[in-house]
Order: sequence, then structure tokens, then C-alpha cells
Amino acid sequence: MTDYSNLRVERQDGRATVTVTRPDKLNALNAATVAELDAAFRELEADSQVRGVIITGEGTKAFVAGADIGELAKMGPITGIDVSRQGSDAFRRLERMGKPVIAAVNGYALGGGMELALACHLRIASENARFGLPEVKLGIIPGYGGTVRLPRIVGRGRALEMILTGEMITAARAQEIGLANRVVPHDQLIAEAEKLLDTILKNGPVALRFALDAVDRSLETGIEEGLGLESHLFGLLASTEDMKEGMAAFLEKRPANFAGR
Ligand code: COA
Repeated sequence: MTDYSNLRVERQDGRATVTVTRPDKLNALNAATVAELDAAFRELEADSQVRGVIITGEGTKAFVAGADIGELAKMGPITGIDVSRQGSDAFRRLERMGKPVIAAVNGYALGGGMELALACHLRIASENARFGLPEVKLGIIPGYGGTVRLPRIVGRGRALEMILTGEMITAARAQEIGLANRVVPHDQLIAEAEKLLDTILKNGPVALRFALDAVDRSLETGIEEGLGLESHLFGLLASTEDMKEGMAAFLEKRPANFAGR
């Protein structure tokens, strides 16, 4: 297990929790932290003991308050492309790792921090969470997938309102527009995220992986291709031990014990 300087990765009962640990900088993502996130996501993707992931930030104030503005201020146009690609690639790896990922948003989720939460499959927010894409206030635009993922999650008009104003919204508003799946009291945030992930992880692992793949790809294709892919993945699941076990367990009125194959 790798030691990280700006992250903590803990594993328990098939869950991995990744905590960004720069609370004195509101967990802002400097290049070193983005590189560590990328390495951690590769490690978790390859670890068959890890079946689902929770991402959060250290402390009570911030999930992640964005990319590190001190570093961004020094970029030129070509390094700017590289900075954006580094974050985009890491977040895409997380989104495509084939295991469910929940963001436990414990405070400010701004800029790159909001984009990290958007790359997660589900978002649980504490009551004090604040979401925003303030990049235009700095004369830039979101660079880690915000313009791509936010409209897909909340719709074009609501996304553009956030992207063009740069203003923050509350956890309650985030839930109202479908950005946060749930809002819970701060002291229950991690327990709720773990409970939700445990509920998900009771289900067939191959089915979870295919469901994530089908939804991700269908958002990029037309209805015919999406329906075709769904049918093929649906059929493919009939070849798995998981399907046999899931259906046998139902018919025998007992909990399923999935092997993930
Ligand atoms: N990059 C680098 N440093 C950051 C940061 C970021 N995105 N966000 C916060 N910090 C640092 C602050 O500079 C400060 O460091 P210091 O104590 O060495 O001066 C520390 O974190 C605490 O932040 P501070 O601004 O003092 O807290 P606050 O409660 O007054 O305000 C925010 C909180 C989130 C409103 C404010 O920090 C903020 O606007 N941050 C930038 C958000 C942003 O634009 N993100 C998108 C970047 S693309």
C-alpha cells in the first residue's frame, strides 16, 4: 500500500476511503495532489479487494476548494493544457474504474473540487457543503470536466447558470437540482456514505460494473447504440455465476453471496 503526502487511503470491508489532506489550504489540488489522486485511483482500480470508493476532504470546512490558484497563476497556454489534461485524465480514471464511487462532500466543493465530485457517481453533501465553479471570476473556465459533466447531471440551463455566474450554491439547492443525491447533518456524512455504499455493494459486482458502463456509454451515444449495448451487456450477464447466484438466492429466499464473476 502506497504512502501519500496529500492523501489518506483507508480500506475496510471492501470499501476504500480517499481523503484529501491539505486542510490548511482547504484541500486545494496542487499538481502533486492531482498526481497522487491519479496514482491512488490506479491502485484502487487494480485492487480486487476494493469494491467501492468514497472520496472526501479532511476537516470540517472543505471537501476541495479547487485547483491550487498559486500554481495556476504561473501557467502558460501549453502548460495550461497539460494541467487540465492531468486532472481530466485522473478524474476520468476514477469515473471509469468500474466500481461505484461516492463523493462525501463535507464543505466547499469549488472549481476542481466540484469537478472531482462530478466525476464521482453519487454525491452526498453535509448541510454545510457549498458547490461552485468560480473559474470565470479568475478569468478561466473549468478545466477538469466541469463544462462536460455538470450539464449532463443538472441540465444545460442550470449548469450554465453556475458556470457563467461563478456563484456558489447551498447543499439544499444542490439537492433540489439533482447535483447532490442526499443532504445529511455533517456528523453523519461519512456514516451515511458508507451505508449507501454498503447497500450498493450487496448487489452483484459484475452487474454494478456493467450498469456503470452502460450508463456512461449511453450518455455518449444515440438511443439505438445505447439500447444495443444494454441488450448485449444484459445477455452477457447470463453467463456469470453472479446471475445464477442472485436468482437462486431469490428463489431460495436467502441473501445472495456473490463471487463477482
Ligand atoms: N488554491 C490555493 N489556496 C487556496 C485555495 C485554492 N483554490 N482555496 C483556499 N486556499 C487557501 C487560502 O489561500 C488560505 O491560505 P493561507 O492561510 O495560506 O492564506 C487557506 O486556503 C484558507 O482559505 P481562506 O481564503 O483564508 O478561507 P475563507 O474561509 O476566508 O474562504 C473560500 C474560503 C473557499 C471562499 C476561499 O478560500 C476561496 O474563494 N478559495 C478559492 C476558491 C476558488 O476560486 N477555487 C477555484 C480555483 S480554479
